[in-house]
Formats: sequence, structure tokens, C-alpha cells
Amino acid sequence: MSILRTLKSRFASALSSLTADTGPLLEMIRSSQDPKFGDFQVNCAMPLAKQLGKLPRDVATEIIDHLDVSDCCETPDIAGPGFINLRLRDEWIADRVSQIAGDNRLGVTSATNPRHIVVDFSSPNVAKPMHVGHLRSSVIGDAICRTLRFAGHKVTSDNHIGDWGTQFGMIIYGYRNFVEADAYDRNQVGELARLYKLVNQLSDYHAAKAKLPKLLVQLGQRQTELNELKNATAPADKKTKKKLKTLRKAVEDTRGAIASAEGKVDHVATDATLLEQANEHNEIARLARQETSKLHSGDESNQQLWDEFLPACLAALNQIYARLDVQFDLTLGESYYNPMLAGVVSDLKSQGLATDSDGATCVFIDGNEAPFIVQKTDGAYTYATTDLATIQYRLNELNADEIVYVVDKRQSEHFSLLFRTCELWGLADVKCQHVSFGTVMGNDGKPFKTRSGDNVGLGSLIDEAIARARVVVDENDDRREQPALSPDERARVAQIVGTGGIKYADLRHNRDSDYVFDWDKMLATTGDTATYMQYAYARICGIFRELNVDRQNIASGQATVLLTCPEERALALQLTQFDYAIDSVLADYRPNQLTSWLFDTAGKFSAFYAHCSVKNAESPELRHSRLILCDLMARALCTGLTLLGIETAEVM
Ligand code: ARG
Repeated sequence: MSILRTLKSRFASALSSLTADTGPLLEMIRSSQDPKFGDFQVNCAMPLAKQLGKLPRDVATEIIDHLDVSDCCETPDIAGPGFINLRLRDEWIADRVSQIAGDNRLGVTSATNPRHIVVDFSSPNVAKPMHVGHLRSSVIGDAICRTLRFAGHKVTSDNHIGDWGTQFGMIIYGYRNFVEADAYDRNQVGELARLYKLVNQLSDYHAAKAKLPKLLVQLGQRQTELNELKNATAPADKKTKKKLKTLRKAVEDTRGAIASAEGKVDHVATDATLLEQANEHNEIARLARQETSKLHSGDESNQQLWDEFLPACLAALNQIYARLDVQFDLTLGESYYNPMLAGVVSDLKSQGLATDSDGATCVFIDGNEAPFIVQKTDGAYTYATTDLATIQYRLNELNADEIVYVVDKRQSEHFSLLFRTCELWGLADVKCQHVSFGTVMGNDGKPFKTRSGDNVGLGSLIDEAIARARVVVDENDDRREQPALSPDERARVAQIVGTGGIKYADLRHNRDSDYVFDWDKMLATTGDTATYMQYAYARICGIFRELNVDRQNIASGQATVLLTCPEERALALQLTQFDYAIDSVLADYRPNQLTSWLFDTAGKFSAFYAHCSVKNAESPELRHSRLILCDLMARALCTGLTLLGIETAEVM
């Protein structure tokens, strides 16, 4: 059991005689920021004193009187107004770290109640190539799957690809009207991507052209309104100021919308071929939608095209997954659920949950203005209907206990309506959670795009990462008196450094935040990066090579760790908390809890290594003990990084 869990259970007993509500108080047991205050600091005496109408220091004393931690801690101290400071016994740390050193799970016990968790992640809309927007879901989802499995749960990773949506109507229309046969034969997916983009551009052109006059009128109106308000003579009161602010924003927004629409029009209008195509296909958007409806209603020739396109699209996705080392147990896309959708809607209707609203069928959720539309006026089923069928399937056929959706936070409302609808529908046996994440931004603070404003393709992003990593790897190896890597090995190392760098840079951020994509920071050999951790791992392997010690023997032999200096003690204590890092990741599916543990641990290792010589240790026992810590550190790095989907190499 992790030391923190042990302390929590001891405090739970001690507090139970003082209050019934121990939960929030137990959250106040934390690692100390400053070793001067011991290893853990407990601040619960203050709120409890308030509750009981006593003095905090008296309450702290009462808690300590009831507390039994003598096996693992020195006598607790009370500091200041009533902080309880705990210092672990050195023997306890030495004992625990020795146990962990002999355990290939590094002290993580396997879940006593394993659950079956379906992790729905990556899930791109196919027919378009994968881009940087798909990185986060793929990388975070994969890390969650790996960590859950390691913790002993049953995991089904499911790639819920969008293979049935409007984009298929677009490529079907594009294929029928604009395909270049040679290009299609040479590179099917490339040509489909071009067709998708073309149909999009032409549709956008017509939509923008139609919208522009209205936008210009709107801008005029808003500007006049703004000027009138500005010119009103009386000094502006609070209400007017607020209105001015709103109007200014409205003018700005309209200007933005106009600029964007003009951009779309110009893009086509300045290219003679595009313009000619646009003029010949002025109903393109409607006709592409019609192709999608035909596909959904069983049109044979559209189905044939779908059957022809899909395998190539999947093969292109799989190429990226192979490069990222991401695996799925299932790839059940939206199309898989098509036969079940009518049943979902009729069931919702018969239960009185879904009702007709202006010709559409909707579920209305209390407290939510937007309805959850399960069938549109034209009879089409929606993303929502598919997701309902999917939950039903995962619960009834896969027997899932839990479903985790690793999806962009912009879909929060969809998921909250979805989960609420499921509860009402009677599918409450499965726990659903939206694991949301923010956007990858460029240096300019806007979503990361290429210079020409296109999405950054994931394939080319990985290529660039590996090319940049190669420079780092070459530099490092060339600096050696005798380079250690052959060109092939350098290529292999560059691959793990490049892909590891992208993954780690993503995972180390709190997933809800946006983050800025920065090549230099990502591949830096110092700081909170995969590169730093990977080199640290290789360096430790190097220590063993240099001393000619077999790591296998260190780990399997009888381990006794000696703690002779503060840095050694701090590292050992940190290494006993790997299980806590895993718990923290799984508590709310936050892989950054693991990256930050790894980074802290690496820092403690550096301090240890700078202060405690392994080679010239004072005694053979101490040398052995330090080798055990080095080996454990290496295994912690390797295991931790593996759970994040990042590889390591012994020489790099
Ligand atoms: N294909 C969707 C998109 O690209 C994401 C699907 C997420 N999973 C789900 N079950 N809704 O936006």
C-alpha cells in the first residue's frame, strides 16, 4: 500500500472519534514542500477545530493521541497554529524501497476489484488524413489504456472512427465529378483527401459568397449603432459602457466573419480552374449531403464506393498508429451502429423520452436549453443517436463497467446530454466519463496550423520530429570520443526520441489546458521532456556498463538499501511513491500526474548521483545499495515512460 494511503487509513481511524466526516480532512495530508517540516504535512486540525469550537493546537494534540503511526513515522510534531508534521522512519523507507527493488511492479499492487473499461479514443473522422488535432486523443487515450492495464483492469480500446458522416458524401460527390484517375490509381488516399478538400473549398466558396452581403449590412448596422451611442453627449453610465463594450465586440466579430468569408471567396475566385469548377457546381453542398443520405438509405452504388474507399482510409490511419505505437482492440466505427439506430429512436419514443419537435425527434433534458436531437427532420440519424447505440452495445455486448471518452473539450455539451439521456434511458449500470482536453496551439497563440492555414498532417509532424531528433542524437553521439551508435542505431534512437518527444510534450500538460507546440522545448535534453528522461535512462545503463555490473543480478539479488545521506533518503522515499503516482493518474485520468512524478524523481536522482558516489562508495555494501537505487531508478523511468507509450534505449 502506498505510504500516502497508509497514512490516510491511520488518520481515518484517529479522526473517527472526533468527527463523522473524515473524507475532506484526509485530503489535507500532503507531501511537505520543505524537508525541514518532515516528509508529510497534515493541515486538518485547523478546519476540524473550527467545526468543534476548540483550539487548533489542542485538536492537533488530540489527533496525535489517537494516531498510531509508530511503525512508519517518528513521533509527530505540532508546528505553528496546529500543523502536524510527520517524518518517516529511515528504517521504514529503507525497508519499503528494498521491497520495491525486488518487485517488477515497483510496488503497484494489482486492482483487487478489476473493472472492464472501454476506452474510446483517437476516433478520427476518416476520409480526411489525420492531423495534429488527432494527436491528443490518441496519445492521452493510449496512456490511459496502458496505465489501466498495468493497474490490473480489463481494458478494451475502441477506435470509434467517423466512417459514416457527411465527409463520405463529399468524397463520393468529389469522386464522381472531379477524380483524376491516374492520381487515384497511384495514391488512392491522397486523391481522396484532395477531393475532400476541393469539395469543402467549393462549398465554402458558395456559402461565403451568399453570406457576405448580409454580413456587410450587419456591419453597417452595428457600426451605426456604435457611433450613435458613442456620440450621445451625456457621460456614459455603467450600463452604457457595458453596451459599448458589447457593441465593439460585435463589430469586431462581424469584421472577423467578413474577413474569413472574403478569404474563402478569394481563394477560389483568384484561381481560374477552381472558379470554373465552382461555377459549374453551385449546388455542391446540397448535392454532397444528398450523397450521404443516399448512402445511409442503402443506395447500392454509394455503398460500393464506400466499400472501395474505406479500406484505403483505414490503412492510412493504421500507418500512423503503427508509427505512434498505438493499438486498438476494436475499431467499431459509426457505420457499425447504423443498423441499430432505428431501434434506439423507437425505444426512446416508446419510453416517452424522445418527442417530436418541429419534425425532428429530440430528448429534452431539464436545465438544458439545447435538445438532444436523435433524428433530424429529413429522417437522418445523428452523432447522438450513434453514441446512444454505442453505449447500449458496450454495456450489453461488451459488458463494460465503465466507458471513458477521450475527446476534445469542445464536445462537453454533447457528452453531458448523452450521459444524462443514458441515465434516463435506464443504462445507468455503466459509468461514463468524458476525459476532455484542450487544443494544440501554435506560437501565435492560435490553433496550430501550417503557414498556409491548413491542418498540420500527423504523418509529416512525426517525420519532422524524427528529423529534428536525429540532429540531437547525432550531436550527442558525435561529442563522444568514440561514437557509440551506428547509423542504423542512430535512426532507431531518433525515432524513439522524436515520437517520445511529441507524446511527452502533450502528456505533461494538464489535459484540460491548451498548450503551445514548441519543437525546441519538446526535444531539449534538459528539463521536463522525454528526451531528458530517455538520456537519464541510458546514462544509468551506462553506469552499469562502466562498472561491469549485470543489472539482472542487482535486481534479483537480496536487496538491502542503506540510507546514508539526505539525497539518498529523498530519492528512496520518492521511489516508494510510484504506486501513488499511478493512483493519481487513474483517479481522474490525468497522465500528467505520472510525468510530474517522473520529472521529480529524475531531479532527485540527479541530486543523489551528484552527492553519492557509486563507484567510490565507502563500503561494498553501500556500493551495492546505491546500485540497487540506480537500477530501481532505471526501471522506474522505463516503466513510467512505457505507460506513457514512450520507449527507451540503453545506449543513445
Ligand atoms: N469522430 C469524432 C470527431 O472527430 C469523435 C468521436 C469521439 N467518440 C465518440 N464516441 N463520440 O469529432
